Amino acid sequence: MQEKADVLIIGSGIAGLSYALKVAETGKVYIVTKSNEDESNTKYAQGGIAAVWHESDSIEKHIEDTLIAGANLCDPETVRIVVTEGTERVKELIELGTNFDKTQQGTYDLAKEGGHSAHRILHHKDITGYEIERALISQVSKHKNITVLDHHYAIDIITQHHLGQVVTSHTEDIKCFGAYILNTKTQKIDTVLAKVTLMATGGIGHVYATTTNPTIATGDGIAMVYRAKGRVRDMEFVQFHPTSLYNPGEHPSFLITEAIRGFGAVLKTTDGKEFMQKYDERLSLAPRDIVARAIDNELKMRGEDFVYLDCRHIERKAFIEHFPNIYNKCMSLGIDPFVKMIPVVPAMHYLCGGILVDKQARSSIGNLFAVGECACTGLHGANRLASNSLLEAVVFAHRAAETTKIILPDIGFEEKVPNWNAEGTEHAEEMVLITQSQREVQQIMSNYVGIVRSELRLKRAFDRLEIIYKENEALYDETTVTQKVGELRNLICIGYLIIKHAIRRKESVGLHYMVNYNK
Ligand code: FAD
Ligand code: SIN
Repeated sequence: MQEKADVLIIGSGIAGLSYALKVAETGKVYIVTKSNEDESNTKYAQGGIAAVWHESDSIEKHIEDTLIAGANLCDPETVRIVVTEGTERVKELIELGTNFDKTQQGTYDLAKEGGHSAHRILHHKDITGYEIERALISQVSKHKNITVLDHHYAIDIITQHHLGQVVTSHTEDIKCFGAYILNTKTQKIDTVLAKVTLMATGGIGHVYATTTNPTIATGDGIAMVYRAKGRVRDMEFVQFHPTSLYNPGEHPSFLITEAIRGFGAVLKTTDGKEFMQKYDERLSLAPRDIVARAIDNELKMRGEDFVYLDCRHIERKAFIEHFPNIYNKCMSLGIDPFVKMIPVVPAMHYLCGGILVDKQARSSIGNLFAVGECACTGLHGANRLASNSLLEAVVFAHRAAETTKIILPDIGFEEKVPNWNAEGTEHAEEMVLITQSQREVQQIMSNYVGIVRSELRLKRAFDRLEIIYKENEALYDETTVTQKVGELRNLICIGYLIIKHAIRRKESVGLHYMVNYNK
């Protein structure tokens, strides 16, 4: 079946939804999303959204913190754009109905996280993302021009390649005409033609064995763009969150927000001793790459599986008020945070790289924008400052929407696009082959391309992934496309890109820590 939308949005997290609301007056908008409409990394964001808010803070300070965290590999112009425009965009989230916590004096309760020199994180208890997602979905559902298609999985974007033309990474004028979308309830593949398409597919967490990301995070958008010969960058900068709850068997991992450390919690080894003083003068509130590496090092030296986060000295009422979700989770596992320390371990959390975009969120493919975690704007450089990603998403969703409104009237639908060709792919693959390959990818990435890397480990990862890649491409060519088959293909592609970019970067910087280049 063929459908037409002026704007096609792939993904219903903060990036997709906030862009949708801004372009909805210009025409018919489709949002396709592969799970329930609210399922996204956004929904699980805990700490909050960073913005210059209080007079004791300043644009310059936030810029400086972002640049320092990014190990000077940030694009300074992007950093200035995000920080300068961010406060206005956060005000819009509030106007759309997002409730951020206030103090008893009625001002916003601003939290602090690692790498921030000021209190500037607006939050809703420890479930900020849930609150933002709720507010945005409620607005989207009221808009007559927006249709949300949940349980619809985007397989590939449509370009000249699908019209039978040869498209290589050197082709100058690649254009996006929409996407092939699998309805995962009927298993039918629709052709959705669009004048403008937005990629807002979020993160890649499930390339790794341990991650804070929900299962939707399989890097689909980045893989789709890469396959379509679009440009992707900075994939080596994979952020591990220092403190996910150590609870073997729980997958994805439950996050223990960094804001808890901003509230006074302290990292300790299992013998109750503080260790961050050995690594950084900012102690438990040093930027994430430093804290994650310090924990990794302690675990390796001591041969242990976790370190502790000590909250026992924090005032009970204030803690429960600020972190009810974490308190309830810990209590459900028999960990009373005022009696016992919380066991924590680093887990893959966020990808700094992604689809290369310009200052208006335009990708290298014509009529294709990318916003949010799947995009690389240059804001994060070699390491993201905590709570800057929700901010980046709203700033670039706005910029993408402004440009969309200008270009849309001059774009037509490409009418010659063929429907999905399923010929020769009638074979349904056994699930066990797919899940086993996925596990192998995750093991390779976690063991060889994690927090600490080396040339030998990267080479090993590359060789092993290549075998899985070849096996899987053969399988893909003759198998009925399902969401699982498509996701596996994308995970392999993302793993390949991370390794390739990591091998190319001959230095130790930010999140890319190579023992070979360690000064
Ligand atoms: P997402 O919110 O992940 O949305 C992606 C959407 O795309 C989903 O709807 C998904 O189903 C859909 N999708 C993906 N692939 C396809 C496909 N092939 N077809 C159709 N649909 C598809 N950042 C902060 O700034 N502050 C925080 O406090 C914070 N806390 C975090 C806590 C956790 C546990 C996690 C995991 C992340 C946190 N982050 C935080 C990071 C932040 O939440 C994300 O970077 C951000 O929400 C990404 O938004 P997004 O819209 O780009 O993607
Ligand atoms: C957290 O709450 O610790 C996560 C914040 C972020 O990833 O930005």
